[in-house]
Amino acid sequence: MTQNVQVNGSYWLQTAPGGAPRPALGEDLDVDVAVIGAGVAGLSAAWELVRAGRSVAVLEAGRVAAGVTGYTSAKLTVQHTLVYDRLRRTRGPEGARLYARSQSEAIERAAGIVAELGVDCEWETRDAYTYVRDPGRVDEVRAEAAAAKEAGLPASFVTETGLPFPVAGAVRVTGQAQFHPLKYLRALAADLEAHGGRIFEDTTVQGLEEGEPCRVRTEAGTTVTARDVVVATHYPVFDRALLFARLSPRRELVVAGSIGADRDVDGMYITPEENTRSVRTAPLDDGRRLLVVTGEHFTPGTGDTRERFGTLAAWADEHFPGVERTHAWATQDIDPTDTVPMVGPMHPGAHHTYVATGFGGWGLSGGMMAGRLLTAQITGEECAWSGLYDPRRLRTAVREAPALLKTQAEVARHFVGDRLRPVPPVDALPPGEGAVVRAGGDRLAVYRDEAGTLHAVSARCTHLGCLVGFNAAERAWECPCHGSRFDTDGKVIEGPATKPLEQRDI
Ligand code: FES
Repeated sequence: MTQNVQVNGSYWLQTAPGGAPRPALGEDLDVDVAVIGAGVAGLSAAWELVRAGRSVAVLEAGRVAAGVTGYTSAKLTVQHTLVYDRLRRTRGPEGARLYARSQSEAIERAAGIVAELGVDCEWETRDAYTYVRDPGRVDEVRAEAAAAKEAGLPASFVTETGLPFPVAGAVRVTGQAQFHPLKYLRALAADLEAHGGRIFEDTTVQGLEEGEPCRVRTEAGTTVTARDVVVATHYPVFDRALLFARLSPRRELVVAGSIGADRDVDGMYITPEENTRSVRTAPLDDGRRLLVVTGEHFTPGTGDTRERFGTLAAWADEHFPGVERTHAWATQDIDPTDTVPMVGPMHPGAHHTYVATGFGGWGLSGGMMAGRLLTAQITGEECAWSGLYDPRRLRTAVREAPALLKTQAEVARHFVGDRLRPVPPVDALPPGEGAVVRAGGDRLAVYRDEAGTLHAVSARCTHLGCLVGFNAAERAWECPCHGSRFDTDGKVIEGPATKPLEQRDI
């Protein structure tokens, strides 16, 4: 039976207050590197660059680490569901080895930073498991265990786990980590500032002029002149290589609650079954915080998110009876069509602009890896995995084609099909609900707030014109084509759109 779940925000954000806001950029600035976005990828890159002696300015539209990074499940692992068997087939054994090495090195680097800075971020070493319950899928995890081992990881096939239900088989990779991502990233931000780096919050970037030097223009009219620019905004805000066509958005829902310490699952778990289901715990003074995540492979702005939250909460109750639910939140992942994140020069003609995107739900180790890789590229060091992550890669284009076509067919289906959907009358809209309605030749996205006031904006996404849909659980407009999200007054929450939905009268 599904349940009514109150979406009340990220546990991480609520347990690591952000402190006083940093000032917005109020004057023109000249630096070696401008980093756009203060999530894990942007902050990791900025921290490494400052340590490499570069002057760095980080420009963040909101608050440090309060975007997608603040909503993750915070598993720091090289085990990414069933990635190694796939990489072995698509990129060969060397590609799988480089992926494993790059991700392992990123986690070791993070452990080193935690030790060096003395960060209290609830760091715990745990084994990571990808399990299946369906005996018909055991061969998949056996193949993954073999591929991960061949890639150099401490991986094995097991049938026993710490989960409170039997599994048919699992890949275990030992010695991975889980932590509190906000406590880690806020310490990283403070340290980079202590070493001369600068972070500006509430600073939205609106223009990027590539050249020697590059110029970044902000919404407030200030300019940052920089030799190099890193775009680390989850979905790239400046997408000159049209990467969005090779990326597909996916919504992830999280419910969290408390359980007794004696019921700890002693590991981090994920399954490709049940639309992917992930389980981990975190320390509490008097027990453990249980986090259960579903990577529902639905497209943002479609379907009923409340029902999906209810199904997830019911799963948690069934498998962890008596869990006291405390938090529920959602986040967004971006899957690249060929599984591998895109980190490196932004487009074929780029000399000083770099991008990091497409982490597919593994943004913590991926973002840390991106910070290291982009720093090597900017400082002119060799890095063995530059080619693997190069966003300009063409060798995999043929292999990507089926996934790419599927992504584009999905976009076309929304672009055309959503215009044919029947539209409800505005009068029938209850408080707290939103709907796309027809007005003249236009489609309006109309939301009725709790006081009964209607808020109307254009329903055409400002990215490429698909029609948005309403997410009632989170009260946001979402675009099914490439995942842009807007608040009920049309303000951009998440790109690739950079402009708000136009205001309309109703
Ligand atoms: Fe691309 Fe909306 S996000 S059209």
